[in-house]
Amino acid sequence: MRVLSGVQPSGRLHIGNYFGALRQHLALQRENEALYFIANYHALTSLSDPNLVRQYTLDVALDYLALGLDPAKTVFFRQSDVPAVCELAWIFSCVTPMGLLERCVSYKDKIAKGIAPNAGLFTYPVLQAADILIYRSNLVPVGADQKQHIEVTRDIAVKFNQAYGETLVIPEPYIMAATAVVPGIDGQKMSKSYDNTIEIFAEPGPLKKRVMRIVTDSTPVEAPKNPDTCNVFALLKLVASPEETAEWAARYRAGGMGYGESKKRLAELLTECFAPYRENRKSLEKDPTYVEDVLADGGRRARAIAEPVMEDVRKATGIVVAKK
Ligand code: ADP
Ligand code: TRP
Repeated sequence: MRVLSGVQPSGRLHIGNYFGALRQHLALQRENEALYFIANYHALTSLSDPNLVRQYTLDVALDYLALGLDPAKTVFFRQSDVPAVCELAWIFSCVTPMGLLERCVSYKDKIAKGIAPNAGLFTYPVLQAADILIYRSNLVPVGADQKQHIEVTRDIAVKFNQAYGETLVIPEPYIMAATAVVPGIDGQKMSKSYDNTIEIFAEPGPLKKRVMRIVTDSTPVEAPKNPDTCNVFALLKLVASPEETAEWAARYRAGGMGYGESKKRLAELLTECFAPYRENRKSLEKDPTYVEDVLADGGRRARAIAEPVMEDVRKATGIVVAKK
């Protein structure tokens, strides 16, 4: 099974990204042929500072490698190292009905937030379709928010095949819904855009500070508390053993426990859980050549998969390119 997914380099990764996406990506690489890439072209739809684009691209590379992506097995690359995706996106844009893109919720949400949309934001799902179909991917693991984009990808593939003959493989979404939405320190969905994140690679001091700021209700210490509505508990259960989670649930319900106590334990557990990865990341940071080599090698392997598919697409559509 060929598994493919992309992450936008739009800031430092947080534990919502880890539990909602990265953990599953890393688990899937064991049993499958996995391709994971850093969607730097997509990032340009919302990021216009070249230094930040470069910095975040490197950050995502370091984050994935530090967390255990195996570059010998998994093809790990930058989207821009396969520029043919842009060529394919153009060809797809000519079989994509406007209405399909106009219905996209993520686009409509951005407009509703008052963001002045560029054309790239509107055609974002077409490039995403090219990312997926150029590798004849079978399975695309993404968060629930991306499901519609995978449906658009399937529609585009079907339309292309109808117009030009069976050329593309229709992929399946793999919605990583098992993990509920991870709340941020303010109780909303944890997200880079809300400044409510706990970063995966935060140092113990700053990490503890963030955890102590998690919003809780004002139930007095003596009173029984409901673990199921508590943001601290929601995070605690992601990192504590099942036994310890059950103990904390009982302590909440019994009363006599302040949120400061569960926060302190949460900070300890998060520090422990990510400690080995923090060390990995520090050694990787010292070796930028290694990271560049991994991405360059991933790019070569990705191009080798993409090129025959592009040949089929060009042949099917009548696009002629001189032989090199
Ligand atoms: P952000 O909202 O911080 O910009 P992205 O939209 O870049 O995050 O998400 C990258 C991946 O991480 C997606 O697959 C998304 O579903 C997942 N993800 C992001 N935030 C959370 C969260 N709070 N809980 C669970 N999964 C999340
Ligand atoms: N749109 C995805 C996100 O924001 C990132 C992405 C780009 C992607 N291309 C992709 C995900 C192809 C899966 C497959 O999370």
